[in-house]
Amino acid sequence: MKQDLIVILDLGSTQNTVLAREIRDLGVYSEIHPHDITAKELQALPNVKGVILNGGENRVVDGQEVQIREELYGLGYPMISINYPQSKCSDSDILSVMPNQDTLKKFLFDTCGAEANWNMRNFIEDQVELIRQQVGDRKVLLALSGGVDSSVVAAMLIRAIGTQLTCVHVNHGLMRKNESESVVKVFRDELHANLIYVDASERFLGKLSGVADPEQKRKIIGGEFIRVFEEEARKLEGIDFLGQGTIYPDIIESGTKTAKMVKSHHNVGGLPEDLKFELVEPLKQLFKDEVRACGVELGLPHDMVYRQPFPGPGLGVRCLGAITRDRLEAVREADAILREEFARAGLDKKVWQYFTVVPDFKSVGMKNNARVFEYMVIIRAINTVDAMTATVEKVDWDVLERITKRILAEVENVNRVCYDMSPKPPATIEFE
Ligand code: XMP
Repeated sequence: MKQDLIVILDLGSTQNTVLAREIRDLGVYSEIHPHDITAKELQALPNVKGVILNGGENRVVDGQEVQIREELYGLGYPMISINYPQSKCSDSDILSVMPNQDTLKKFLFDTCGAEANWNMRNFIEDQVELIRQQVGDRKVLLALSGGVDSSVVAAMLIRAIGTQLTCVHVNHGLMRKNESESVVKVFRDELHANLIYVDASERFLGKLSGVADPEQKRKIIGGEFIRVFEEEARKLEGIDFLGQGTIYPDIIESGTKTAKMVKSHHNVGGLPEDLKFELVEPLKQLFKDEVRACGVELGLPHDMVYRQPFPGPGLGVRCLGAITRDRLEAVREADAILREEFARAGLDKKVWQYFTVVPDFKSVGMKNNARVFEYMVIIRAINTVDAMTATVEKVDWDVLERITKRILAEVENVNRVCYDMSPKPPATIEFE
């Protein structure tokens, strides 16, 4: 193993991730684990150089104070505790505040003797070895959506086990222009992945026909996705593992043992009971920016790794109300134009999320001296840190004019273009 490891045990601190990042900033790899980790589990982690007992505000859960297991003290790892009074640590090792950089450095490099050997190349080498140990000569299945996390996991698994990995890409017909094609090109043609491409567009559009309620649309898309994936999984034989692009923020949002759930997280959950897989989650200790850096190091195209967030239900929640083919096509074509022009103006690197929406009503217009009754395209471009609030990008007027001209000339059934000026709140980022 290439990297030394500092383990942070979560004893109710709200600062676990801040601390993990500080340690990584000092060049040492750190992972956050639950307080009730067993001695055996801790010893199974590679190259543990020291342990930090990280206490804090959430130390009491359901009326009980969280404790580490007694057995951990006998393992001989250097320990410090923060906001966690432990008789077993010497006084000098108990800190009542977050350690400053000097204290942290002293602990990492003097007390633990750790080396500053954390970098993406070493991380990948270690993960490749761990994946090979876990999987052996058995097989792994992965739902490859083409999003950042699933793409990076796919690239990592291909590096580790090659064609022992089978990727399934389900095109639900609500992808952006050329998106599925690009997944096939990168993974099948360039990385030589064992990739099953399922064009389920017709099936999804059929199920969605006439459904206008946004939550119902989401439910249908999510549920159908699992069914299609399950059908593919059943056709394959001898699969023991499921690869997942879980990253650390997903774990936090789903709730840890000391922190409540923020929102439910749904990767490929919900598979039937009889399809039992062991999980392979090589990114689960990484933050988003680290996942992107990992993707770049693994050789994925820049566009794939730095792409803007795209909702799971795809263009389905941007073709408002009951989805129709003509409006879906209009959203997709207008979105492609918007992305092209934003890239040309350098805005793709500046703006957090930008997309088009087509409402389910028409307005009057004139084309070739005749009255037309056609759809409108709404452009939305926002900036945010955490998607909880958002501000509107002040897009240059000339850029907006150029995009408008192109949409009106190139997209069928559209006679009007609007720019959404609404911040979040009160508007949400998506329309549905
Ligand atoms: P809202 O519309 O809630 O969006 O302000 C916040 C962020 O979440 C994305 N979003 C979704 N992502 N499935 C997803 O995977 C969804 O159903 C979904 N709805 C919204 C949205 O694009 C924005 O980045």
